[in-house]
Amino acid sequence: WLNGFLAGLYSSAPQSAVFEPRNVAVLYASQSGTGERLAKKVAKELKAKGHTAKLSSLDVYPVHELAVEECAVIVASTYGEGDPPDGVKGFFDSLCAEGAPRLERLEYSVLALGDSHYEHFCKFGVDLDERLQDLGAKRSIPIVTADVDVDEPFERWKAALLASLDTAAAATPPQALAAAAPVAPASLYRRENPFQAALIEKRVLTADVSSKSTLHLSFSLAGSELTYEAGDALAVIPANDPALVADVLSATGLNGEELVEVPKLGTRSLCDALTHVLQITKLSRKLIDAYAKAGNIALLIDLLLPEQQTHLDTYLYDRGVIDLLAEHPGAIASAQQLADLLPKLAPRLYSISSSPKAHAGEVHATVAVVRYRAHNRERGGVCSTLFADRTDLNGTLPVYIQHNKKFRLPMDPDAPIIMIGPGTGIAPFRGFLHERLAMGATGRNWLFFGDRSAATDFLYREELEQMLGTGHLSRLDTAFSRDQAHKIYVQDRMLEHGAEFFAWLQQGATIYVCGDASRMAKDVDAALHQLIAQHGNTDAEAYVQDLHDSKRYHRDVY
Ligand code: 2AM
Repeated sequence: WLNGFLAGLYSSAPQSAVFEPRNVAVLYASQSGTGERLAKKVAKELKAKGHTAKLSSLDVYPVHELAVEECAVIVASTYGEGDPPDGVKGFFDSLCAEGAPRLERLEYSVLALGDSHYEHFCKFGVDLDERLQDLGAKRSIPIVTADVDVDEPFERWKAALLASLDTAAAATPPQALAAAAPVAPASLYRRENPFQAALIEKRVLTADVSSKSTLHLSFSLAGSELTYEAGDALAVIPANDPALVADVLSATGLNGEELVEVPKLGTRSLCDALTHVLQITKLSRKLIDAYAKAGNIALLIDLLLPEQQTHLDTYLYDRGVIDLLAEHPGAIASAQQLADLLPKLAPRLYSISSSPKAHAGEVHATVAVVRYRAHNRERGGVCSTLFADRTDLNGTLPVYIQHNKKFRLPMDPDAPIIMIGPGTGIAPFRGFLHERLAMGATGRNWLFFGDRSAATDFLYREELEQMLGTGHLSRLDTAFSRDQAHKIYVQDRMLEHGAEFFAWLQQGATIYVCGDASRMAKDVDAALHQLIAQHGNTDAEAYVQDLHDSKRYHRDVY
């Protein structure tokens, strides 16, 4: 019946229009995999429509290819301080260089991904879009920017893009329609259909007297058929704290039983939406702006003026949605208005700290619990407090695996690796070490770990010391920042052992960095340059670029 249905659909289309298949380069610059995921979706849809789609990551795509391309669609993630993802720096430098090719033939469109909590929101995508224009390329549709919750802007961008390519949309050939017909869903659990994983172990890794609390969590994957590799991330779909939901309701004078419409999810109670769908912790400029306009609140409108930037930064620093609602009441007139105003609650990603070989059927995460008090209120991270306070052993949480193909052990099990992971940045390296042990890999392993104090924050101390004892861990260098009068960080240890670090690089070592992006990863990068210049007597910039190009410098930073 399906064939008949499709044939009917086709024959009713106007016969005069001519379908023109296009050759489309689908390019992505992805750090955590979201860009890649979306690019794959677009490529699939283009093919289903009868176009040719050639998928490529920009880190392996030569700039001169663009000059012979007729049509490119680019999904570009911004990273760090408005930078391209690590591997894509070379591509973008070449594109910005004086000798870059003219791109008069090229028609393109950019989807820029970013996080509006950061100052340089979507900057790389915007820069790329402008540079392509400067080189003579023509935008087929304007750039679309997507905040953490990418679904809606992605659909909007994709629809505009497909429409722009379809010079004769009504005349899609029947084989293309057939390809686009619904297929049975894959058996694997994924973002749209997460697996309910049972919590089978929860252990505090830090001592009670530590200034921080870090948890080791183990979830059972039994029955899910979910698979992962060391270096992948566990995505958890969180739920908000019911106490905070209650506070939001009382601040807005709503009772929670009102029905609201949520895009793609349909109708549900406001209470349910506030618990499972909407983001009610972090504030953003965008939200304040929408709220101020909705309530015509002069004080907030003033706060958004350019000359008030420092005041706005202070306001955003440690206040949340609840403070906005409580300090400036009266803007919310209905449950639906509140639901429309709030952004979507995004899944939380954790670098997996287990090895599928050593911990079959399980997946582990290493999570710092975020808690602080500000403006007369106890506050906490959505997902870390969900683990700490609201999930008991054998309780389940919806999860899926976010693959991270950029963060993999070297193919060669005998190649040396250097891992730099202070704080919870140690997570993937615990996974790597167990993986290499289970594989019988003979490559040398060097770990730099840092935290506040050895007595309270030495995560996985016993395991690491045991691996050091057997020689599986060739070197362990620790930096406990608060155990002495002056701060000592992992990058100080790298510099102390610079000669040996450089010798490992010369012997083919791959470097991995995991943890804080805002300061640590930058300082570690600077130390790397410094030790190369000092001990290698060579152009450190070129040496590091070479490490990137040969896929021997990987970062998983957040
Ligand atoms: P601190 O908080 O005592 O300054 C894990 O959070 C460890 O990373 C802590 O010891 C923390 O030290 C340290 N850290 C803070 N800033 C850092 C930076 N810029 N580079 C490296 N480590 C840093």
